[in-house]
Amino acid sequence: MSTTTDVLSATQVGQFREQGFLVLPNFATPESCLELRARAMKLAEDNVPSPAEATIFTADSEARHAADRYFLESGDKIRCFFEKDAFDSKGVLKADAHLSLNKLGHAMHDLDPVFGEFSRTPKLAAVARQVGLADPKLLQSMYIFKQARIGGEVNCHTDHTFLWTEPQTVIGFWFAIDDATTENGCMWALPGGHRIPVKSRSRLNDDRSATVTDVFDPTPYPTDGLVPLEAPRGTLVVLHGTLPHLSGPNTSDKPRHAYTIHAIDGTAKYPADNWLQRPHLAMRGFN
Ligand code: FE2
Repeated sequence: MSTTTDVLSATQVGQFREQGFLVLPNFATPESCLELRARAMKLAEDNVPSPAEATIFTADSEARHAADRYFLESGDKIRCFFEKDAFDSKGVLKADAHLSLNKLGHAMHDLDPVFGEFSRTPKLAAVARQVGLADPKLLQSMYIFKQARIGGEVNCHTDHTFLWTEPQTVIGFWFAIDDATTENGCMWALPGGHRIPVKSRSRLNDDRSATVTDVFDPTPYPTDGLVPLEAPRGTLVVLHGTLPHLSGPNTSDKPRHAYTIHAIDGTAKYPADNWLQRPHLAMRGFN
C-alpha cells in the first residue's frame, strides 16, 4: 500500500524537530488498542515463566547470569519481564505471575499476528517517513503493563543510549493502550532536550554476558522543564532518540498499559555490541 500520503502537517513536523517529540491523540482506534491489550494478556499467560522459574529474577550471582541471558537473548523472541516489587522478601511472587509483569519484549511485532497488524500500518509508515526515517526498520517492540500499585518508575534516559546507531537514528513510537495520567505513571519529556549531547551508551561487555555503560557526561539531565505527556487511549507519542524522558511509578489502582515500537534507519550502522541482536530474525519496515 502507498505510504506517500502525508499524515503530519508541516507544523507538526516542525514541532518534532524543535521539541523532540510529538503527541498525536486518536492515532489508533480504541478497538485496536483493546484488541492489542487482550492479546498482550494472552501472551503474558502463555509465555510467563512458572513461579519457581520466576525466582531467578530476584536472586543474585549465578542466577543473575541466567536472568541476564534471558534478557540479552530476547531480541528475536517474546519474553516476559517481572516487576521487581512483584516479589516478597523471600523471592516469592505476591500475585499471579502474568499479573506481575513489567513488560513483554522484544519481537512481538514480528512474531505475533495481532501485534504485527497493529505495528505495520500505512499511517505509521507515513509518520516514520515524515519524522526522518528514510529506510525504517522495526528493531524492537515492548508491551509495558505498568501494573496497578507495583508498576515501577523508569528513570530519565534517552533511547539512543540503549539502541545505538551511527549516526543516531532511533525513534520511539509509544502508544497509550490505557489512558495515561500523572497518577498512573504517564511519560514525562524535556522539550528541546534532544539537542543535549547524549550522555552515555549501554553496550555488551567483552564476553557478551552483560551490559556495561560508557559514560560521556556524568551530570544528570535537567529536571526543570520536564512536561507530563498525559495521553488518552489511542494516543501516539513519537520520541526522538536523544530526547530525555521518564515515567513515574503507578500509584493508582488501575494498570497503565502502553505499547512501544523502536525503529532505526537501515542506512545507519548497527553496532555488533548493542545488547539487542536478532540473529534469527531480519528487520523489516512498516509495510
Ligand atoms: Fe525510552
